[in-house]
Amino acid sequence: MEIVATKKEYAKSLDAAIGSVAAEGIYLAGDTGFGAEETYRFICDCIAGGYPQLLLVEGESVLGWCDVVPDERRGHGRLGIGLIKRARGQGWGEKLMRETLELAFRRFRVVELCVRADNARAIALYTKIGFEAYNRRKPMPLSGFFGGKRIHMKLARRQYLKAANA
Ligand SMILES: CC(C)(COP(=O)(O)OP(=O)(O)OC[C@H]1O[C@@H](n2cnc3c(N)ncnc32)[C@H](O)[C@@H]1OP(=O)(O)O)[C@@H](O)C(=O)NCCC(=O)NCCS
Repeated sequence: MEIVATKKEYAKSLDAAIGSVAAEGIYLAGDTGFGAEETYRFICDCIAGGYPQLLLVEGESVLGWCDVVPDERRGHGRLGIGLIKRARGQGWGEKLMRETLELAFRRFRVVELCVRADNARAIALYTKIGFEAYNRRKPMPLSGFFGGKRIHMKLARRQYLKAANA
């Protein structure tokens, strides 16, 4: 397995990976992927906009993704991450997220995310990296599709760099 920069050729496989995580029904907003065409457009937007999207791949197969795209607030980015089941628990999620954040903090001052309150594994990872929960007045796009309670978390570039250099 390796971490690579996104490219358009991965659209179909990325969509399948998103679909497989979404189908578990407990992690993402919605229980299906976005479709190969929509995923292709998303990859194109990331590349054109210079938004970081890194993929965990095995050959041509996408096993995981992490991306940060602009949020409504200027200078703020929104992070999404997911690994298919068999790739979890081996350190790849943390590596993928840290590498994506390195790129994201070149253009965003703050990175935010939204997670289900019962997703203890993801919350443990986010907390380890330095994210903190906060009260966000306006919900994040798509977060309305989550069932149950959600938590918004954020991390500022200066906190991240301070922790990384400690
Ligand atoms: C959340 C996710 C990205 C974490 O990636 P991962 O590769 O499984 O996690 P890693 O092996 O890199 O572990 C990194 C940290 O995550 C936490 N973690 C990992 N597995 C855990 C578990 N079973 N229970 C509690 N915490 C766990 C720990 O803090 C761990 O650090 P440590 O090893 O020093 O204790 C991944 O499990 C995943 O994609 N899950 C399903 C989709 C999802 O939840 N996406 C996020 C939606 S907001």
